[in-house]
Amino acid sequence: MIYLDHSATSFPKPKGVIEEMNNCMQKYCGNPGRSGHKMSMMMGEKIYETRKAVANLLGVQNPSQLIFTKNTTEGLNLALWGILREGDHVVTTAMEHNSVLRPLHAMEACGVSHTVVPADCFGEVSAKDIIAAVKPETRMIVMTGASNVTGTLMPVREVCRWANAKGIFTLIDGAQWIGSFPVNVEDLAMTMLAFPGHKGLLGPQGTGVLYVSADQCGTFNTDDSGRNAGDLLQPLIFGGTGTASKSLRQPREFPEDFEAGTVNGPGLAGLGRSAELLARIGTETIAFHERELCRELETHLRNMDFVTVYGPAPERKTGITLFNIRGLSSEEVTGRLSREYDIAVRGGYHCAPLAHQAIGTYEGGAVRLSVGPFNTRKEIRKAAEAVYRIGKTCK
Ligand code: ALA
Repeated sequence: MIYLDHSATSFPKPKGVIEEMNNCMQKYCGNPGRSGHKMSMMMGEKIYETRKAVANLLGVQNPSQLIFTKNTTEGLNLALWGILREGDHVVTTAMEHNSVLRPLHAMEACGVSHTVVPADCFGEVSAKDIIAAVKPETRMIVMTGASNVTGTLMPVREVCRWANAKGIFTLIDGAQWIGSFPVNVEDLAMTMLAFPGHKGLLGPQGTGVLYVSADQCGTFNTDDSGRNAGDLLQPLIFGGTGTASKSLRQPREFPEDFEAGTVNGPGLAGLGRSAELLARIGTETIAFHERELCRELETHLRNMDFVTVYGPAPERKTGITLFNIRGLSSEEVTGRLSREYDIAVRGGYHCAPLAHQAIGTYEGGAVRLSVGPFNTRKEIRKAAEAVYRIGKTCK
């Protein structure tokens, strides 16, 4: 199979990830932080190593600022429900995934309102428009780092720096950004960043991270009295943390307070290995490779008069190419690429309806081809050839 669906999940996983997960399941899969025996302690150490490896990759000084979640959606929900209160206003963009749009819609019933800033036909949203949508009651700006539909890169640095100076929280959806694009989290001055372990980071499914800035962690840790309680991130899930067992009150500790219950030990052990590997390869190198693959693919596609390519030029996006073949639905093209050519891509709406509205593909969606670090030029040429053959037969 030629796998070109990395925006949904990365494949194949590096050998080291599989080996580490296997090793964990067979040798040290105790419950971390719960018991004093060797296996429990080793699992705890491995999880700490993973926190350090991910922190190192993203330029985060203190690994405790990383909360492990099961996916990006959980991280985004933790940040939104954990901070926003009745009367708060949120600014977001039309390029968001339903993992942002649906919680914000649900929060309207709790008195949290939001404004959606429109995108242009390339999926671009300007920092100026985002800032102009801020009101006196705006508590948070929520935006993606890169669109999961077009790959368009968002003006994260400009918006976060401005918001930081104004005391407005920022929450970045890093689902299509982290691992496949160089990101130094502390340099960008964001308050929170949610991202998956299983996409750009090349780890297993069921792993994700919410980064919380030092300012926010600091506020949390020093404010035991409940002062400014509205400013504090509250857990989404309450329960056992392996600490302060006699207390009915959830302990106020980062990150354990937010990871109640048994964590995904084998998954996190695997994630540690992939984060180390990525640090060795370098996210700059991966971004360059993926951009070049998209550039080559789009050169071929733009030469086919029955193909429409959407989104910005490769230098303004991550490794996604979005297109349609005239006269065929995106689902039909996706199905034929799979059945006839064994090429895996994703068609339809990609759980981001407003993004499709912005770029003009709301009727029928589009075919998304998303590349990863292990894809080759040869695979890209085969994919372009397959699109050509499918388009030709329908003319
Ligand atoms: N959010 C993932 C995608 O864009 C699943 O395909």
